[in-house]
Amino acid sequence: MIHFEPATRTFNLHTAHSYYALRVDAEGRLVHLGWGLRPADAGPADRADGPFPWPHEVGFSLTVQFRPEEVLTFGDVSTHGVTLKANFPALAQPLAPGEAAHLPIRDLRLRYASHAVVMDAEPGLAPAHGQPVRNETPRETLRVRLVDPVQPLAVTACYRLTPEHDLLERWLELENLGPHPVTFDAVGFASLHLPQGATELTSLTGAWAREYTQERRRLSAGTLVLESRSLQTGHRANPVFLLNAPGQAAEDSGTVYFGALAYSGAWQLAFEQLPTWHLRVHAGYNPFDFQLVLAPGQRHATPALVCGVCGDGWGGASRRLHAFARERVLPAPSARPAYRPVLYNSWEATTFNLSYAGQAALAQKAAAMGVELFCVDDGWFGARRDDHAGLGDWFVRPDAFPDGLEALVAEVHRLGMKFGLWVEPEMINPDSDLYRAHPDWVLHFPGRPRTESRHQLILDFGRPEVVEHIFSVLDALVTRYQIAFYKWDMNRLASEPGSAAGQALWLAHVAGVYGIMDRLRAKHPALDIQSCSGGGGRVDLGILGRVDQVWASDNTDALDRVRIQEGFSLAYPARAMEAWVTHSFNGFTQRAAALRLRFDVAMRGALGIGTALNELDEAELAEYARYIAFYKRLRPIIQDGALYRLQRVEAHGASVIEYVAADGREAVYSIVVHDYRAGAFRPTAPLRGLHSGLVYRVSNRDGVEVQRATGYTLMTLGLPGQHGGPAGWSQTLHIVAEAE
Ligand code: DGJ
Repeated sequence: MIHFEPATRTFNLHTAHSYYALRVDAEGRLVHLGWGLRPADAGPADRADGPFPWPHEVGFSLTVQFRPEEVLTFGDVSTHGVTLKANFPALAQPLAPGEAAHLPIRDLRLRYASHAVVMDAEPGLAPAHGQPVRNETPRETLRVRLVDPVQPLAVTACYRLTPEHDLLERWLELENLGPHPVTFDAVGFASLHLPQGATELTSLTGAWAREYTQERRRLSAGTLVLESRSLQTGHRANPVFLLNAPGQAAEDSGTVYFGALAYSGAWQLAFEQLPTWHLRVHAGYNPFDFQLVLAPGQRHATPALVCGVCGDGWGGASRRLHAFARERVLPAPSARPAYRPVLYNSWEATTFNLSYAGQAALAQKAAAMGVELFCVDDGWFGARRDDHAGLGDWFVRPDAFPDGLEALVAEVHRLGMKFGLWVEPEMINPDSDLYRAHPDWVLHFPGRPRTESRHQLILDFGRPEVVEHIFSVLDALVTRYQIAFYKWDMNRLASEPGSAAGQALWLAHVAGVYGIMDRLRAKHPALDIQSCSGGGGRVDLGILGRVDQVWASDNTDALDRVRIQEGFSLAYPARAMEAWVTHSFNGFTQRAAALRLRFDVAMRGALGIGTALNELDEAELAEYARYIAFYKRLRPIIQDGALYRLQRVEAHGASVIEYVAADGREAVYSIVVHDYRAGAFRPTAPLRGLHSGLVYRVSNRDGVEVQRATGYTLMTLGLPGQHGGPAGWSQTLHIVAEAE
C-alpha cells in the first residue's frame, strides 16, 4: 500500500510487516524518514508522519553531508558516498557576475517535480522473454520525479512493493532533457539509510571452489566495499547483504535488514558508516571503470536493488528472498513440469573425451536409474580436444561425433530423457575458426597485449553483430538438436576491456547476455537454461529472471558443499540450485564420501548426477536408482517448501535443515554432521512450521517408519536419535501428516 499525505508531502509505503517513509522537505528535496517493522497492532490507516527524527536544518555546513536524501548526489555532498555523480558539459544559464566557466559542472541537486503510483513499472534490464512468473498479481510502484533546478536532467526514484514478502525494489530512471550529452561517473540503483546501530553485516565472499562463504563482521566507521570488477557477478563476493544490530539477531529472531542486486555485471555494495553513526548502503554499478553517457533525450533505467526488513531473523530474510525468487523472478512457462528434472552431466565422467559410444552408454545407465535430462558438457564442438582450442566454433566436433550429434540426441530421446548441451557463448579461443575470421571481435586495446585466461579471450558484446552472431548460433542449435537445456558457462574474468562500446561495455555485456537468453526463451518456450560461471560465479536476482537453475560450485565434495550450499541459501532458493552426486573420492579435497552423504547433500537442491556411471557395479547403480526415486518423492517440498536452517555448521558442527510444504503437512528433514566434536553431545533440532495437533509419520528412503509423533513433539523435542554421528554421518527423512 502506498499513501501520500499532501499536507506534509509524506509518503508511507506499507508491506505486510514493514513500513518505509519518505518526505518532500520545504526545499523540495526527497528525504528519508524511516524504515523498519510496523507495530504489530498497526492498521492500514496508521502512518508515520511526524517531524524529521534527526536535526534537519541546524545551520552548519556538515548537516548537508548527513542529510538522508533518498537519492544522494555529488555536489553539495562530496565527502561521503553518493548515488549519482553527473557531469554537465555546458552552462544551462548565462554566467552571473563573479562566476567563471568551471566546466564540466559536477554538481547535481534534485528537487521534487511530481509523483505517481503505477501498477506496471519494471526496473532496467527486466526480463524481456515474455514468459510468466508464478505470481503475476500486479504490484504498486511509487515513482517520484525529481529534476535539477538548473541543469536539464530528470531522475525518477522508483519503489516497487511486493507486500506479501515485505520486499521493496528500488531503482532510478535518468533522463537527459537538454541539448548536450550528460556523463555519469557513478550510478547507483539506490542508497539505503539504515537505523543507527544496524552494523552487524552478514555477507558472502569466496573464490572458485569456495563460493558463498558466509562472513559476519561488525562495521566500523568508514566504508566497506563488496564488489565485482568483472563482466559477471563474480566468485569473490555475491551481491547480497544482511544487517542487524550486533548480537540482536539470530537465525529465527531479531530485526534484520537485507538486500540483493538484480544485476550480473560489475556491481558494488558500499557500506558506509558516517562519523554520526548514520549507516548507508550504496548499491549499484561498480564505479571503478564506469561511464554512462546520456545523449540528448536519452533515458536509462537501472536494474533494481531488492531489499526488505523482517523481524524473524536471518532465516526470515532468506525465506522472503527465496519466495520472491520462486514466485516473482524465476520464469514459469506454462508448458513446464512443476519441478526441476533430475539431470545427468557428463563433465566429471568424461571431460573432453567424448564419443557417441561413451555418451550413449552413460545415457543408458542414467535413464535406467531415473535421470530425466542428459547434458553433454564441454568438448562436443570445433577442435575442442582440451581447453586450448575450439571456443567460438559451435559446430559438432567431427572426430568425437563423426556422424553428427543427431544419433546421440535420438538415443537420449529414445531413453525418455531430454537432451542438453554445454556452451560458453561469450568466449573464444584464439585457436578457433571464429577468431581467425574475426580477430577484432574480442575485447582488446589496439597495440596492447591480449591476456588469455584458460587460453581464451572475451567476445566484444559491445558490438551488436557479435551478439547477433551468438544468438543465431545458439538459436540454430536448439532447433537442429531439439535442445531442451543449455548449460551457459563463463570461465574467465575480464581484462583489457577495450570495446566498440567504450566504457559502456560493462553494461552492454550484461545487456547482451540477458538479451540473448531472453530471445532464446521467447523463441523456444520449452528451453531451460542453467547459469554457470566456472562454478557459482554468476548467481544473482538478475540472471535468475532468465534461467531455471544455477550451478553453485565446481566443488562437489559433499562436506565442502554443505557450507557452500548453506551460504547460497542465504538469498537463493533450493529450487534453483543444481547439486550433483559425483564419485566417492574427490580430487579437490582428496577425501572420500559415502554415497549416502553425497546424496543427502545433493538432494538439498535440484538433484543432478555427475558420476562416471560406467565405473559403477550393478549394486551401486541400483542404490543410485533408489535415491533418485526417493528424491522424486521429496522434490515438491525441497523445491517449493520453506527452508529452515535448524542448526548451522558454525554453531554445532552439523548442518540440519528442514523444508516445509506451504500447508505444513509435509516436510523434509536433512542432517549432515560436518565436524565430529569429541566430548560434546549434539542437541536435537526442534522442527518448524508443522501443526502441533497433527500426527506425523517420519520415514527414511526405503519408506521405513523411524518415528511417529505429533507436530508438537517434533517442534519441541525434535527427532530423537536423528541428531548425529561422526563426521560425514547424514540422514534425510520424509515427514508426512496422517489423515485426520
Ligand atoms: C566450468 C564448469 O563449472 C564445469 O562444470 C564445467 O562445465 C567446465 N567449466 C567445462 O569446461
